Amino acid sequence: MPMPLVDDPLAPRIAVVGATGAVGGTLLDVIEDRGLRYRALHLLASARSAGREIRVGDREYLVGELTGFHFGDADVVFFSAGHAVSRAWVPVAVAHGTLVIDNTFAFRMSADVPLVVPQVNSAELDRRPAAGVIANPNSVTIPLVRVVRDVERRWGVRQISVSTYQAASGSGHSGIEELQEASRLALQDPQATMPAEEFSPGLAFNVVPQIGRVLDDGFTLQERKLLQESRKILGLPGLDITATCVRVPVVNGHSAAMWVECLKPVDRAELCLLLGGLPDVTVHGDGMHGDILTPATLGDPNHLHLGRIRISPTNPNSFLLWLVTDNLRVGAALNALQIMETLVAKGHL
Ligand SMILES: NC(=O)c1ccc[n+]([C@@H]2O[C@H](COP(=O)([O-])OP(=O)(O)OC[C@H]3O[C@@H](n4cnc5c(N)ncnc54)[C@H](OP(=O)(O)O)[C@@H]3O)[C@@H](O)[C@H]2O)c1
Repeated sequence: MPMPLVDDPLAPRIAVVGATGAVGGTLLDVIEDRGLRYRALHLLASARSAGREIRVGDREYLVGELTGFHFGDADVVFFSAGHAVSRAWVPVAVAHGTLVIDNTFAFRMSADVPLVVPQVNSAELDRRPAAGVIANPNSVTIPLVRVVRDVERRWGVRQISVSTYQAASGSGHSGIEELQEASRLALQDPQATMPAEEFSPGLAFNVVPQIGRVLDDGFTLQERKLLQESRKILGLPGLDITATCVRVPVVNGHSAAMWVECLKPVDRAELCLLLGGLPDVTVHGDGMHGDILTPATLGDPNHLHLGRIRISPTNPNSFLLWLVTDNLRVGAALNALQIMETLVAKGHL
């Protein structure tokens, strides 16, 4: 692997806001894994973590406080510190001419902000966005649109229904810690009062069919985001997609059961071939038989994993599948980094 910190004046200067978080930390891992070349790396967080040291490659970096950072010192800034931080600080970064890749939902639906999954709509990155911000979609939308794009082109899509099984890490470090602590407590005393800051009711030995607040139509914010973001990325404003998003007691790795109705009959062998041919996608076994695909037995965490591919016995136009991804990598950090790699390849950074 090449040394990522380089003298090259053309290599970008990078800042990571939320570098001590679950997504930020994974981004640093991915930067290292992929040997990304950069000229400077700034790690930023709140006052709580300022002064901590984090090792990236063969160097220790001191975490700085976001409020004291001069954005003119970075060419690109990754934000993953929550949408309130993005709303307050992304405009400041943009005012300094810095390009922002934002992991939160703060700007995803803004008309002038491209929402990008490079395997699906990299043409959005053909020019540097005037708003200075590129949004990274949510962790369930990313794998879903990567599956749907080519299916839509081949067979057309009439309707999609998806049930998600989302891990505690989707709520960051505090979500992981709460699940672990509640599980320990529940094993000692099932009647004990469980911590329920992140997940209410508690998540230990439980499933919670609500992620985010419930909106007027009965869907949750998470379910609404899946609908709106998928439509925007796929360029299909009328796409009929409904979801039930469920939190499950898994530390990391989101799963989803998808049902897709197409406009024409779908041939299962052709579908498996098409999906297995997509970049960084693994179809397990023959899609129907083979290893049982779970978040705990995922294989390559940088891949999107598919299994249980079946044609509906009563409707030859529709199929079902099971999908599992590492939400911190494929569903967040890796996609954000691939946006940056695409920008570099297109000469915008
Ligand atoms: N987890 C996922 O699967 C996932 C997927 C896609 C998108 N996202 C989005 O990514 C963002 C971060 O998620 P996460 O899971 O990484 O959360 P997390 O583990 O709780 O990390 C939050 C990070 O934000 C920093 N932070 C919080 N308040 C701050 C402030 N006022 N100023 C500067 N830094 C601040 C924290 O720094 P301290 O150490 O100083 O507290 C920490 O580095 C969220 O908006 C989330 O919705 C998460």
